Amino acid sequence: MPNRAHVRSLVAGVVSLGASAHCLAFTTPEPTALIDQQRCMFCHKVDTPYRAPSFQQIADRYRDVPGASDMLAAKLRAGGKAHWGESAMPSAMQRGGGPLSRDDAGKLVQWVLSQ
Ligand code: HEC
Repeated sequence: MPNRAHVRSLVAGVVSLGASAHCLAFTTPEPTALIDQQRCMFCHKVDTPYRAPSFQQIADRYRDVPGASDMLAAKLRAGGKAHWGESAMPSAMQRGGGPLSRDDAGKLVQWVLSQ
C-alpha cells in the first residue's frame, strides 16, 4: 500500500501539470512593450469602448472569422478605412510608434483576439 506522503505529492504534481497545460492552451501573453511602443492604449481599452472599439468588441467580431488575423495585422501596419464608426485605424507611422514588423503585428493581433 503506498504511503500517504507519496500519494499527496503525486496528486499535487498532477494538479500543477493540469494548471500549466491550461495556461499554455488558453492565454496569450500580453506583449506589453509592443503595446506601449505602438501606443495602442492611447485609443483602445480592453473592455470598454474609448476613442476606438474595445479589444473585447474587436475579438468578438473577428475571433471566428477565417483570414481575419492577416487582414488585421496588415491594418495595424498600414492603417485602414473606418468601418466601426467615423474614425479610421491609423497606420504605424501615423501612430508615432515607429515601423511595425509583420511578426510584431501578428503578435498584437493574436493578443487582441484572445481578449
Ligand atoms: C489614434 C488612435 C488609435 C491607436 C493609437 C490605435 N488604434 Fe486601433 N483603432 C482605432 C480606431 C478609430 C479603430 C476603428 C477603425 C475602423 O472603424 O475600422 C481601430 C480599430 C482597430 C482594430 C480593428 C480593425 C478593424 O478592421 O475592425 C484593431 C485590431 C486595432 N484597432 C488594434 C490596435 C492595436 C493593436 C493598436 C496598437 C498597435 C491600435 N489599434 C492603436 C484607433 C486607434
